[in-house]
Amino acid sequence: SRPKVLITRADIPQKALDMLNEKCEVDMWPESFPIPREQMLKKIQGKDAIFCLLTEKIDTEVLNAAGSSLKVIGTMSVGYDHLSLEEIKKRGIKVGYTPGVLTDATAELTVALLLATSRRLFEAHGELLNGGWGKCAWSPLWMTGWGLAGSTVGILGLGRIGQGVMQRLQGFGIKRFLYSGRSRRPEEEEKGAEFVPFDTLLKESDFIAVTCALNDQTRDIFNEEAFSKMKKSAIIVNTSRGGVIKQDALITALKTGQIRAAGLDVMTPEPLPPDHELTKLPNCTLIPHIGSAETTTREGMATLTASNIIAGLEDQPMPARLC
Ligand code: GLV
Ligand code: GLV
Repeated sequence: SRPKVLITRADIPQKALDMLNEKCEVDMWPESFPIPREQMLKKIQGKDAIFCLLTEKIDTEVLNAAGSSLKVIGTMSVGYDHLSLEEIKKRGIKVGYTPGVLTDATAELTVALLLATSRRLFEAHGELLNGGWGKCAWSPLWMTGWGLAGSTVGILGLGRIGQGVMQRLQGFGIKRFLYSGRSRRPEEEEKGAEFVPFDTLLKESDFIAVTCALNDQTRDIFNEEAFSKMKKSAIIVNTSRGGVIKQDALITALKTGQIRAAGLDVMTPEPLPPDHELTKLPNCTLIPHIGSAETTTREGMATLTASNIIAGLEDQPMPARLC
């Protein structure tokens, strides 16, 4: 009989659905919002594989509910902090994810967020709508931001996405690129990236892009102490995971002028309530976790996830296996 796959969301690109339907018996949660926990615990029973998103925590409880039938987890994401990998490995379940296919889209978005934050685009849009423009018409100091030319850019996590950000910023006249992280990147150093201790990155960067994975080493790495070491003129943008930044410390740093501004595609919690304290800060640019939200990218992520699942079920090498 055909393997059974649970898909945790409607709105999966059709091409990926077609691939799975051809080989598997698909049980798709039919809604455009996350599958409720109790539904997931019920529906995962007897499934051979699960196609999930970063909104689904796959922890011991889910794995216990799935029982021994579950062989493959395919997450349609490059991040995997929502998966309890130790528990998953213990059970011998294979995991596929989506590195590579979203690098361009996420790097592009990171640069867009950096520019939107440094040049205050959302605030400026607000001025157009709220009559601020009408009052001053054009004014020498009005809506002035801070340019990238001549600046030092620090990148935490010079992996695929961080490298994509640096590559895209090459045309902006950046003076220095600094990076910190677990891995040295000799090829990037040849292109001008300087590997520095995290402290140096904090102290010397005018702009910091956070493109690292969330793990025990990076959780809350931007805390009170980190913000106190940054330039008062520093701008930080985060397109990785909200947990890398200790958010209360960021809010204080933004309110007290310890740093200049932040641009966040990821935050805590997600979704962020529209009346959250972060939304009240004029020097905080917020967008709703759309780093990879680009049409062909999402199709690529979905089909790679489907390929991972099908290969895993057929005991073939998975195109992007995490473990
Ligand atoms: C998005 O955040 C992803 O991990 O793919
Ligand atoms: C992280 O997964 C990256 O691709 O940079």
